[in-house]
Amino acid sequence: MKKNVLFGLVAGVALMAGVSSASAQNAAEGEKVFRQCKACHSLEAGKKGVGPSLNGLVGRKSGSVEGFAYSPAMQNANITWDAENLAKYAADPKGFVAGNKMAFAGIKKEEDLKNLVAYLLEAAK
Ligand code: HEC
Repeated sequence: MKKNVLFGLVAGVALMAGVSSASAQNAAEGEKVFRQCKACHSLEAGKKGVGPSLNGLVGRKSGSVEGFAYSPAMQNANITWDAENLAKYAADPKGFVAGNKMAFAGIKKEEDLKNLVAYLLEAAK
């Protein structure tokens, strides 16, 4: 009985360590995917390019960076940028927010998308 409890504990800890290093790995890979976004987006607060700064993106409402001229479509999208919505938008910007003006075809590879979102959750908080 005691042995089983101990085994469970060890397995649990090993599993947790595995999961967290896997997501760190994903984020590192995602940073490379993000190079495609950097042409238009900065992660620095207040620094706009062709697109708005993505600083503080996670948890923020769509179209809410002050001083950025969003399209009416993005102003009215009413999305909260969480992992799920970021994945949907990055995969197919025009499909997810019809009429928005981000000129980007979308990330088609499932693996790239997963890694990108892992990166954004850490880097665009
Ligand atoms: C060619 C320039 C360009 C590229 C490349 C680009 N974006 Fe954008 N992005 C924009 C523009 C412009 C907007 C504003 C869209 C609007 O107002 O309709 C935008 C908006 C966004 C928003 C909504 C921000 C907000 O404040 O609501 C997110 C999230 C976003 N982009 C993520 C990304 C990610 C992730 C990538 C890379 C996979 C990327 N973008 C690549 C130009 C770009």
